[in-house]
Amino acid sequence: MSGSIVLFGPPGAGKGTQAGRITVLTGKPWVSTGDMLRAAVAAGSELGTEAKGYMDAGLLVPDGIIIGLIVERLQHDDASSGVLLDGYPRTIPQAEALSEVAVVSAVISIEVSDDAIVERIVGRRMDPETGGIYHVSFNPPPPEVSGRLIQREDDNEQTVRNRLSAYHEQTAPLAEWYAQMGLLISINGNASIDEVGMAIEEALSGAL
Ligand code: AP5
Repeated sequence: MSGSIVLFGPPGAGKGTQAGRITVLTGKPWVSTGDMLRAAVAAGSELGTEAKGYMDAGLLVPDGIIIGLIVERLQHDDASSGVLLDGYPRTIPQAEALSEVAVVSAVISIEVSDDAIVERIVGRRMDPETGGIYHVSFNPPPPEVSGRLIQREDDNEQTVRNRLSAYHEQTAPLAEWYAQMGLLISINGNASIDEVGMAIEEALSGAL
């Protein structure tokens, strides 16, 4: 498939969990705006300092910051045949800016209920060495990595509720925007990690 693929869905839907499988299937590099922002925060850059307050509060980082970040990333050589976008776009202006610099071939929308989201996010644990994503119940980590796992600062119940509000108000309308273009592929995310992965593979293989 030429062009970029967008992984779409509420916070904690399982976008990052499924991204590795899709990059293996398509060969497209995984571009996560959340990871880019967390790297900027960790580096203490001006951008990271500005973004941190929004992220900690569960709010979207302003479009002006995010659009600049993604436009720059899409100029790298490895992006020339398209990328797998995880967490971008999240507003109509972000989608419009994307359409000026890239062709979107498919939008995979992982659909999960709000109650399941809270449970997934509060139980999420991350491996800072490998980027591995685990869940205390749904995807338990192997014992050898358990000691080094961390919990993201924004993975608490109050911030998750704010992130869900931001999703419903600012991001969800994009589903209709992409549906009208014939690009939206809806996937039932209320299933096991493997079942969701297989459903995405099946949907994409029809389009590859
Ligand atoms: P970002 O890092 O993108 O966070 P998010 O969208 O809130 O998504 P998550 O990373 O929380 O979830 P995910 O869907 O990847 O789920 P995961 O696979 O980890 O953004 C963070 C912040 O940065 C935002 O709040 C915002 O401030 C800012 N930001 C980023 N991009 C932006 C943009 N474009 N514009 C403006 N601001 C932006 O899975 C979650 C858990 O569930 C894991 O524990 C996993 O093991 C488990 N799990 C996964 N699938 C299943 C399953 N099928 N069954 C059971 N458990 C499962």
